[in-house]
Amino acid sequence: MKRKLAAGNWKMNGTNASLGELQSLTTAHPDPRVDILICPPATLIVQAAALTADSPLMIGGQDCHSAPSGAHTGDISAPMLADAGATAVLLGHSERRENHNETSDLVAEKALAAWSAGLTAVICLGETLAQREAAQTLDVIATQLDTSLPDGATGTNTVIAYEPVWAIGTGLTPSTAQIAEVHDFLRARLADRLGAAQANAIRLLYGGSVKPANADEIFATSNVDGALVGGASLKSADFSPIISAL
Ligand code: G3H
Repeated sequence: MKRKLAAGNWKMNGTNASLGELQSLTTAHPDPRVDILICPPATLIVQAAALTADSPLMIGGQDCHSAPSGAHTGDISAPMLADAGATAVLLGHSERRENHNETSDLVAEKALAAWSAGLTAVICLGETLAQREAAQTLDVIATQLDTSLPDGATGTNTVIAYEPVWAIGTGLTPSTAQIAEVHDFLRARLADRLGAAQANAIRLLYGGSVKPANADEIFATSNVDGALVGGASLKSADFSPIISAL
């Protein structure tokens, strides 16, 4: 039986003082029913991995370069993340796609780099509000999924996160019917490509303004295997009830 996944993306937030939130999470969830992944800023990965070494919490990066090493000032490679103690990495987050012009082709290259380093690739995709209003959502999702996901995906090396861009950090969330439509579509499209067994093994996360108040209904939605949480993952008092709702 596939385990659900509660993933927290701290984005560009957090200093050493924030590690106390991680400590609180490990204390609150010593033997969780679900997998828990925290993606702090790169500056905290080593400390976060050390702090959670004896707990089931996993630590991930927020991005990686597609090359293992080289002259790429300011970038971090997948082997470096693994060396720092990460076991997963977010790829293709809409903030990377928008602010750094990342394409789905590049996301696929990064996913291959992540797999080579033994990391689980959490591949993010989602439509903008303009695309939803133009009834292009499923076309956008199909193209992003087909192009961002390299051949060779399994339930171990890949997680897919559906994050409508207009729901990120806005307090807006799609209806559960809208979430189900996309998640059902993702599952079917994965099945077309990978077969039903492999498609069912890949966890599909919903992300975008998930909070304790809406977690129950989102987690009860068809084909939702967990959440990718931004703002509400920064404080254990907010993230902990989301974990418990899964
Ligand atoms: O990676 C997380 C998503 O961007 C969601 O962020 O929960 O602050 O809306 P949010």
